[in-house]
Amino acid sequence: MRVSVIVPTYNEADNVVEVIDRLRRALGGQSHEVIVVDDDSPDGTWRLARRHGADDPAVRVIRRIGERGLASAVLDGMAAAEGDALAVMDGDLQHDETVLPEMVRSVLDGGADICVGTRTGESGSFGDRARLRHWLTAAGAALVRRLLPRLRRTSDPLSGFFVVSRGLYERAAPRMSRGLREYKILWAFLARGRDLTVTEVGYDFRPRAGGETKLSGAILLDDLVNALALRLGRAVSPLFVKYCLVGATGVAVSLAVYGVGELAGLPTVSLGITPDLNPIYLSALLGIQASIVTNFLANNFFTFYDRRYRGWGLLGGLMLFQVVSVVGVFVQLAVFQLLHRNGFPTESANADVAAAVNNGIGLAVATVTNFFLNVSITWNRVRRTR
Ligand code: GDD
Ligand code: MN
Repeated sequence: MRVSVIVPTYNEADNVVEVIDRLRRALGGQSHEVIVVDDDSPDGTWRLARRHGADDPAVRVIRRIGERGLASAVLDGMAAAEGDALAVMDGDLQHDETVLPEMVRSVLDGGADICVGTRTGESGSFGDRARLRHWLTAAGAALVRRLLPRLRRTSDPLSGFFVVSRGLYERAAPRMSRGLREYKILWAFLARGRDLTVTEVGYDFRPRAGGETKLSGAILLDDLVNALALRLGRAVSPLFVKYCLVGATGVAVSLAVYGVGELAGLPTVSLGITPDLNPIYLSALLGIQASIVTNFLANNFFTFYDRRYRGWGLLGGLMLFQVVSVVGVFVQLAVFQLLHRNGFPTESANADVAAAVNNGIGLAVATVTNFFLNVSITWNRVRRTR
């Protein structure tokens, strides 16, 4: 089999039949298969695609039940594919299938690892919101190129239209993370390896034929996090990157509340649990508590979005998070005291610097332990797909 085209779909009933027909026409000259990967669309996209391809063995339909997400849909399609070249094309007629043969040739005959379909003449084809979308695409591309220099290998890093060689797929797939609900799968390929051969074929990005876009602010945020995670390397889970970003906002919240509390002249209290430390500032306690609540909400609706608590369930989730966070505070204190009592880093170091270093190490250890506790306790829940 020369080429497999993976077409991810969600609510593309208006377009899927036409997409299949156009692909058959474009690739008719070579051995190929079209794999529609549909996430059990409420509009029955998978049913239409199955019926339409019923007597064509080149058309396969994967109906994923209880899964949602463009990136994982593409990965599942690739796992089922048999071609030497693996193509990805949107199922809404925005990508121009007539340039596919040239893209495939570049990979199979030209030896490219990746060929990207790059958008040209965008301004004319985005419809009403042409300008805004064009501008957002340009800004997004500039930003992710800074975060992840390997994306400079193509002029259109946000493209969802590309072909990869089977060789690159086999090398890259085992290391791909599924931690995020959504991310640009192309980046995971582009970021892989030192010397990839990347080629491009330009095409006219068409307006959406029917239905509506699934792009959202949450997906854009996930994309950014994914660029960061790829930059940091595969040892770092994208979920952990999100968790740390939330943690940083929590530090800001707690410092702000602490500052306001001090200005308001809140007293100090002695809890009797840390006799050898200074009395505890009430404003510091309030700051920590405020950040526990904001961290819970941010993690619930950002980091662990697909397992989020809703409605009254939020209260139960917050209680678990509260317990884990208090454990974290003690872990941080314990590590700090352990290091401090043993004169770490050195006896002669400036006391303030030593305290700051030991606090930092305590915070890092507590962040990692809390992350694992929250993954395995607080958000150890059934995923929501809708
Ligand atoms: N299986 C599955 N599951 N398919 C999905 C899902 C999902 O959760 N979400 C979207 N899709 C399918 C859509 O049905 C469509 O065929 C394709 O993926 C692209 O989704 P769109 O919702 O049409 O995205 P877009 O056109 O607005 O955005 C495109 O351009 C952006 C840059 O301008 C995409 O290529 C983006 O990835 C890209 O960043
Ligand atoms: Mn689209």
